[in-house]
Amino acid sequence: MKINVIGGGPAGLYAAILLKQADPSRDITVYERNGPNDTFGFGVVFSDETLGNFQDADAPSYFEILDNFAYWEEIDTYAHGERIRSTGHGFCGISRKTLLNVLQRRTESLGMKIHYQADITDIAPYRDADLVVAADGINSLVRETYSQAFRPHFDWRPNQFIWLGSAAPLDAFTFIFKENDHGLWNVHAYWFEGDVATWIIETTDDTWRRAGMDKATEADSVRYLEALFKDELQGHPLLTNKSLWRNFPTIHCESWCHENMVLLGDAAHTAHFSIGSGTKLAMEDSIALNHAMTEAGGDVAAALAAYDVDRREDVEKTQHAADVSLTWFEHVRRYWHMPPLQLAFSMLSRSKQITYDNLRLRDPALVDQVERMLVDQVREAGFTVAENNRPPMFLPLRLRDMVLDNRVVVSPMCQYSAVDGMPDDWHLVHLGSRAIGGAGLVYTEMTNISEDGRISPGCTGLYNEAQRDAWGRIVDFVHAQSRAKICLQLGHAGRKGSTQLAWEEMDRPLADGNWPLIAASPLPYFPDSQTPRAVTEADMETLIAQYVQSTKWADEAGFDMLEVHMAHGYLLASFISPMTNNRDDAFGGDIEGRMRFPLMVFDAVRAAWPAGKPLAVRISATDWMEDGLTGADSVTAARLLKDHGCDLIDVSAGQTVPDQEPLYGRMFQTPFSDRIRNEVDIATIAVGNITTADQVNTIVAAGRADLVALARPHLADPYFTVRAAAHYGYAPQFWPNPYLSGQDQAMLLAEREGADMAELRQLARPAKPQHQSLAAD
Ligand SMILES: Cc1cc2nc3c(=O)[nH]c(=O)nc-3n(C[C@H](O)[C@H](O)[C@H](O)COP(=O)(O)OP(=O)(O)OC[C@H]3O[C@@H](n4cnc5c(N)ncnc54)[C@H](O)[C@@H]3O)c2cc1C
Ligand SMILES: Cc1cc2nc3c(=O)[nH]c(=O)nc-3n(C[C@H](O)[C@H](O)[C@H](O)COP(=O)(O)O)c2cc1C
Repeated sequence: MKINVIGGGPAGLYAAILLKQADPSRDITVYERNGPNDTFGFGVVFSDETLGNFQDADAPSYFEILDNFAYWEEIDTYAHGERIRSTGHGFCGISRKTLLNVLQRRTESLGMKIHYQADITDIAPYRDADLVVAADGINSLVRETYSQAFRPHFDWRPNQFIWLGSAAPLDAFTFIFKENDHGLWNVHAYWFEGDVATWIIETTDDTWRRAGMDKATEADSVRYLEALFKDELQGHPLLTNKSLWRNFPTIHCESWCHENMVLLGDAAHTAHFSIGSGTKLAMEDSIALNHAMTEAGGDVAAALAAYDVDRREDVEKTQHAADVSLTWFEHVRRYWHMPPLQLAFSMLSRSKQITYDNLRLRDPALVDQVERMLVDQVREAGFTVAENNRPPMFLPLRLRDMVLDNRVVVSPMCQYSAVDGMPDDWHLVHLGSRAIGGAGLVYTEMTNISEDGRISPGCTGLYNEAQRDAWGRIVDFVHAQSRAKICLQLGHAGRKGSTQLAWEEMDRPLADGNWPLIAASPLPYFPDSQTPRAVTEADMETLIAQYVQSTKWADEAGFDMLEVHMAHGYLLASFISPMTNNRDDAFGGDIEGRMRFPLMVFDAVRAAWPAGKPLAVRISATDWMEDGLTGADSVTAARLLKDHGCDLIDVSAGQTVPDQEPLYGRMFQTPFSDRIRNEVDIATIAVGNITTADQVNTIVAAGRADLVALARPHLADPYFTVRAAAHYGYAPQFWPNPYLSGQDQAMLLAEREGADMAELRQLARPAKPQHQSLAAD
């Protein structure tokens, strides 16, 4: 079998090595435009886990890599002149040149030829092989020649970065955040070999221009940056190597294979340098390709088809983590007001791989410090907290006069079980048991201001006194039997009303007995749904009066908090989203116009709701649609709500239109809460696929939200919070008297389980790679 490899970078060389090793009869040639030693850049990093994959794939090159790398366990973060050190991580750094030399030697030792200085400008002559491995990097000629087949997408990121080096001594993976008159600068620095470290310096486009870097030569840039980082460089110069300011492109390709060609590494996909995974992905692509070829018994077409399917999930996961990470670095300004310790925790936990729990295993001292910082903050807010350390989810929070025991919220969940809008025994048991389960705050389902405002015939209402009294019974139970506070979510379904129960045909009109609908604009939800009537100014008056009346009854029923539902495409949301509001009066147009009616409702409710009780608003922070509401719009909406006296933004997303394109994942809506909380300076709730206490702790500790709501997890486990308290050994958690004997047992079992898990984790932890010089120590 003849194989041509275009590009002698990590992907191309490693693919050649593995494919040859799997079948020495293969005739493999590598074509590389550069010489063996003239590469760009400085060092690359690998994690312990990545090194393990290399060991399994090709032991000889793995051991040579080990002989040449620098290894360290610490991450240092510098901000506001302070250094925060975190330990227990584990990276190795190697110079790109050394890595390539190792792979070049291994390629040649297996009998393959590398044609250096072979700058390929036309791919056609090289297609005459059974397989063409296109590993020609970020500007791939192969990808561009066959772009209609590979269908690449480029996302050019706005930050500017430059790749430099320095011999300034570093003893950790180092992040430096520094502000000068021009703006904020980020340094990602890691030592890789001998005395040299990579210094990637990054900043926003605005700061870069203000600093004159758009017109700077390489020498000018170095002079400027050496002055800026004078202290950190300790007299050492910055070293260049074709160091130009650049923007990072995130590249995705719809297909990685075409006929006998396969794209590997940067040619196929990129992952931002802040998670240091570009070379890992490139080399793991080679491992996956070799695996696919072996599995397919050398049938190239079958192997490439399987490769394209099997490799995607891992690559997309890494690219997603890289996207989350680069977004953090693009918005350091958002976190700049935080104490350095919290900024460092936010940075470390940005791409979800490092969490409160796993950082506690790696670096308990740092987690202790974070906990103490948060305890101090709540003490400053006037709380008495006896112990210095407490898992963040169990910290109290005050909103106006309402005090919550902890940060866990039972998110609103329609039960579709009411008759004539009346909450009944189902609602008592449902909400009562979740309150006993220990959450600090329990929400009712969306409860409607009028009969016609209901989503379905099974939805609850608060439009008469009987309903008020039925709610009062539930509120009294929660107050008497638990420490939870209870919030009424008040809404009107708008164009999403008059639909079937969730377990029938959700969001579809009733088979019969439909009632008329109103919305911001006369647009049906599905094309075959009922078309609503556009709300008139007279309707607005009626609606406001209904909201006010329900608010008064909510107070009489004893609710602690009220939330106005402005999310998920319901009536008020239909005003906010440009997808559902095409009005040409004062209630449409830009975000200020679209917020006008929701704010009128908000003001009226605020005026009718006791001053000591908090008022929240739930918003959909995005419509998950290109032409829909954006993150920036939701910041404006939150700012307007804050100006009108809103205490808390409950940050949900989507459900505005049926063809939304959400990007699901763990905690997938939390970035919207993070942005609103830290840009608008208002308390927020994060919600959406948050399923573990570890995630709740991580979100609170990183300052991404003040409260964390869980919906579906509470359906499986009303006792989520008391269970978490047992898990963390948090004894002050309230348990109702009749359940106290359960608490002792739960704590004991959790302690044993924790010890077993710690032992298992320790056993499963990848071994620290043995560097020769370390082994000799
Ligand atoms: C600032 C920065 C920092 C980074 N830090 C890290 C890090 O810490 N860890 C990490 O893992 N990754 C890092 N990366 C990413 C890493 O450099 C790449 O992801 C990795 O090199 C990809 O390997 P590759 O083989 O696909 O492509 P490349 O390394 O780009 O190799 C492609 C090769 O093809 C050759 N070539 C291209 N076109 C032709 C042609 N027409 N004819 C002949 N030859 C051709 C090139 O000369 C090159 O040698 C970083 C990237 C940047 C920009
Ligand atoms: C059965 C069910 C009913 C829901 N009803 C409501 C509701 O009445 N009001 C609301 O704002 N959100 C409602 N939601 C959305 C949740 O409050 C929450 O935002 C969403 O489920 C994401 O959280 P999760 O991933 O923890 O489930 C409902 C969700 C579920 C699963």
